[in-house]
Amino acid sequence: MLEVNFSEFFKGKNIIYFKTLDSTQSYALELISKNKPNDKTAILTYNQSKGRGQLGAKWLSEPGENICLSVVVYPKYLNSDQQFLLSQMSALAVFKFIKEFTQADVKIKWPNDILVNEQKIAGILINNTLQGAKITSTVVGIGVNINQSVFADELPNAISLSALEGRKFDLKEMVISLYESFELFYEMLTSGNHQQIQSMYLNHLFGLNQRRSFTLANSTVIEGVIRGVQQDGRLIVEMSGAFKTFDIRELKTNL
Ligand code: BTN
Repeated sequence: MLEVNFSEFFKGKNIIYFKTLDSTQSYALELISKNKPNDKTAILTYNQSKGRGQLGAKWLSEPGENICLSVVVYPKYLNSDQQFLLSQMSALAVFKFIKEFTQADVKIKWPNDILVNEQKIAGILINNTLQGAKITSTVVGIGVNINQSVFADELPNAISLSALEGRKFDLKEMVISLYESFELFYEMLTSGNHQQIQSMYLNHLFGLNQRRSFTLANSTVIEGVIRGVQQDGRLIVEMSGAFKTFDIRELKTNL
């Protein structure tokens, strides 16, 4: 595990670069438990061998092609029932970052995948540490497909910025943009602009007010219309005339 600090290149930003790492998320979580890194410290690699995805899934990323970044923050001003704001804020940060590089249709798929033309370009994994009713630390893990051209068979709906735009991107420059977008939306959260975050999230939500197909935890496929998201993060779906709410383990929006 070779650590190279690119802090100068990253314009004084707190970004710690590793040539390879099993998982930036695992590294960041370990760092918090040992010696609390500064707020907004980011762990970065382009070569992640054991990437972690949502609900225990793997995150696959071709070596040297994509960004794997985990940012440590201390949102002590949030209560544990406000955790979803971190998800929304992070999704908006990645959404804005992607938007800067494409004219294509970018959407946030609940809870926090980023889609371009209905294909997944980025995923976000959030790990919160709670103490009583407060959130003491959070690691926001962001995986963005930048230059990857071929995806494994198990990822039929994945796309990269390069595949979309037909050119390669400079990863270091992209990291700076992504980090700056994160800073912007994190600032929105710290300054208490919760309503703005919630309404922006809804504005860009994939499938809002559209008839879509969903898969339930028992594998049943069902149709419904997304009507919104509760503050606790549960998705509101209208099904056969009734409003039902779901958490991430209970329902998946099909592409
Ligand atoms: C998902 O869509 O399932 C979330 C994927 C999150 C992947 C990122 S890559 C950087 C960070 N390190 C990890 O091991 N996972 C997250």
